[in-house]
Amino acid sequence: MLKGQDIALAAIQKDDQELLYQWLNDPDLMRWLTPYRPIDPASFANWFNNIGRDGTILFGIRYLPENKLIGTLHFTTINNVHRTGEIALKIGNTEYRGKGYGHAALTLAVQFAWDDLNLQRVALTVYHDNEPAIQAYKAAGFELEGRMRRAVHVKGAWKDLLVMSILRPEAR
Ligand SMILES: CC(C)(COP(=O)(O)OP(=O)(O)OC[C@H]1O[C@@H](n2cnc3c(N)ncnc32)[C@H](O)[C@@H]1OP(=O)(O)O)[C@@H](O)C(=O)NCCC(=O)NCCS
Repeated sequence: MLKGQDIALAAIQKDDQELLYQWLNDPDLMRWLTPYRPIDPASFANWFNNIGRDGTILFGIRYLPENKLIGTLHFTTINNVHRTGEIALKIGNTEYRGKGYGHAALTLAVQFAWDDLNLQRVALTVYHDNEPAIQAYKAAGFELEGRMRRAVHVKGAWKDLLVMSILRPEAR
């Protein structure tokens, strides 16, 4: 478990299944990350049982005072030649958004990327109008690199995709 002040990045537990299933089936949440599709229980169970077996790393974000799962932080791609990674973040529990926990989870994840994965670059993409996400990424040290124009179609509207990244401070 990687501990911050109020939150920790920790392994997903069996008990987390129901909440994760709810989040993955929540269009208002998932549309910020991917085209929404409903996920049936069998497909979900298959995905859940294979967490950690596809080279990606999925952390649960736990709110420590209540020992409660509030979101996930996923290293979706890790390239050991280039020493790069990509992440996706969500605070699934809306009550816990806007309280700095996304920023805190990113800070822990970036340190993990340098210290434990030995990466030198962590990148992500975000829709141009996702202000809270862009702010949280900037606060954690991510810089804007580029803009992919009209790259995604979400709930009937076209959006640009911003590319952001953070580089390991010392070049090695
Ligand atoms: C994006 C998300 C992960 C951010 O996590 P969070 O815990 O809510 O973010 P934080 O509280 O750490 O930071 C949010 C920042 O946005 C700011 N903010 C909040 N609402 C805002 C708004 N409507 N406009 C501009 N800035 C806003 C906050 O002031 C804060 O900035 P600061 O760190 O400079 O004070 C979370 O809101 C979420 O899960 N959203 C839905 C899924 C999603 O969008 N995932 C990201 C996909 S790329």
